[in-house]
Amino acid sequence: MKLDTTVENACMTVRLSGRLAVDAAPVLEELIDHQLANIKELILDFGGVDYVSSVGLRAILKAQQKMKDLHGSLQLKNVTKPIADLFEMTGLDRILHFERKPRTLSIDGLELIAKGANGECYKIDEETVVKLYFDFVKEASALKEKELAKQAFVAGVPTPISFDVVECGNRRGILYEMIKADTLSKYIEKNVDRLDAVVEMYVTFCKQIHSIVPTTNIFPDAVTLACGYVDACEFFNDRQRAFLKDRLLLTQRQGTLIHWDLHPGNIMMQGDSLCLIDMGDMAVGTPYFDLGQIKQVLHYYAGLGLCYKFTGLGDANAMRVWEKFVASYFDHPDSEALAVIEENIDFYRAIKNVFLYLCNSGGETMRSRRKDFIFQMLPKEFAQLK
Ligand SMILES: Nc1ncnc2c1ncn2[C@@H]1O[C@H](COP(=O)(O)OP(=O)(O)OP(=O)(O)O)[C@@H](O)[C@H]1O
Ligand SMILES: [Mg+2]
Repeated sequence: MKLDTTVENACMTVRLSGRLAVDAAPVLEELIDHQLANIKELILDFGGVDYVSSVGLRAILKAQQKMKDLHGSLQLKNVTKPIADLFEMTGLDRILHFERKPRTLSIDGLELIAKGANGECYKIDEETVVKLYFDFVKEASALKEKELAKQAFVAGVPTPISFDVVECGNRRGILYEMIKADTLSKYIEKNVDRLDAVVEMYVTFCKQIHSIVPTTNIFPDAVTLACGYVDACEFFNDRQRAFLKDRLLLTQRQGTLIHWDLHPGNIMMQGDSLCLIDMGDMAVGTPYFDLGQIKQVLHYYAGLGLCYKFTGLGDANAMRVWEKFVASYFDHPDSEALAVIEENIDFYRAIKNVFLYLCNSGGETMRSRRKDFIFQMLPKEFAQLK
């Protein structure tokens, strides 16, 4: 058994290889007893471990207890199938936090089905696709999307089954059930005569998502995330930050699901019903977070001639869809009521744009434009806050 240890900030990664059994356990125990004083996160990389005995299991539990005492965490990474099976058989899967070693995948010869901003979708077989993230997408984001997709499915969201995480060179991917259908964007483009009826379906679908209260706390709270984005955004002054956060904290905590990128390019028309994909930003919060992003894409990007590029829905149709969508979602309000609704939508739209600014979505040109959008979306007095 070999240990290879690296420490970065308060995170120690230990790569283990060989057999974690009676001879090797004391080595791990020595590390636990003497080297963890300032460590908050211990990662044991099990990629090279081919056997674990009961003595080895006890050493892992000891490491877990030690990290608990230090108010830190223990994670096991790259756990191979036989060892994951052992954790399950012994019941330790209920107390250990571990990630399985991703299966390796080659995309040679696979058919490219579609391309998004974060990755590409390849057909594996008649039932399965892989969403392969570009190499700039962090592994943690891929894992997060898979977990959110899985929990959304359990909560009753119509979404494809998510299977394993795979690796392809330095890219990560998720295997999904293949939905043999057009995106809602494509469907609208092909069936413009059905636009009114399709918008009604789209509204009903969004309201369905917006009424689900998940029973797990895996979905982050959108208001908390949003306050974090406001804090991290360097071009706001302190009073502007306080203004935004005060208003965010007034948000009714409904605890219902939001997707946060609920445009027609992320919905698929499966038979007569709709199915949601691209679940990486799911959270709980008010529907206004979703409505803000839907307006951004269907109204604002369409105005810039960019909606087709981002979602596959033509710009003129997108504008029509948005007008009908907002009217239907709010039961056909009069123009005064609609103005109040749109002001609120614009507030949440601005918040999503802060997030997109921070992650540089759309590249440098979009980034410099986005700062101007954000001020335009907020009430006039906001810019004057000094
Ligand atoms: N399960 C699936 N079955 C069939 N096609 C899929 C599936 N998942 C994704 N796709 C196709 O791949 C495209 C891109 O997927 P997705 O929206 O998840 O990627 P993304 O890179 O995160 O996109 P975005 O540009 O919205 O950030 C979709 O528009 C769809 O055409
Ligand atoms: Mg998408």
